[in-house]
Amino acid sequence: MKKIEAIIRPEQFPALREKLEEIGINGLTVSEVAGCGQQNGQTGRFRGTTYEIKLLPKVKVEMVIEAEHADEIVRIIQTTCSTDTVGDGKIFIIPIENAIRIRTGQSGIEAIS
Ligand SMILES: Nc1ncnc2c1ncn2[C@@H]1O[C@H](COP(=O)(O)OP(=O)(O)OP(=O)(O)O)[C@@H](O)[C@H]1O
Ligand SMILES: [Mg+2]
Repeated sequence: MKKIEAIIRPEQFPALREKLEEIGINGLTVSEVAGCGQQNGQTGRFRGTTYEIKLLPKVKVEMVIEAEHADEIVRIIQTTCSTDTVGDGKIFIIPIENAIRIRTGQSGIEAIS
């Protein structure tokens, strides 16, 4: 299993949600987050002695999926969430040791499908 963690523009989320539904992704976690990428390190301005770093609103989507589906999901996120401009976001892929469905005690793939 893998966890796909995608940090995307909030306005791209509805389209991504639709695409994920189409391929049968039914478990996900969504959070409103704030962050910065490489530009904020470069464009921060001096204000007196304080270096201002701007945090922009983003949406974080987390999905634990079968490892063999990772490439397809990454491709969908990339095509759906790209506006071809800076700030489009990042995708992180993390190995998952195990998953347990609390209600039934099922674990592994059975817990996520
Ligand atoms: N290395 C990182 N670790 C954790 N979160 C990150 C990292 N880089 C970016 N993010 C998150 O992703 C969001 C979008 O980043 P962003 O797309 O601006 O990355 P970037 O590296 O600056 O790429 P680009 O040049 O395309 O803007 C950030 O606001 C932050 O929440
Ligand atoms: Mg950036």
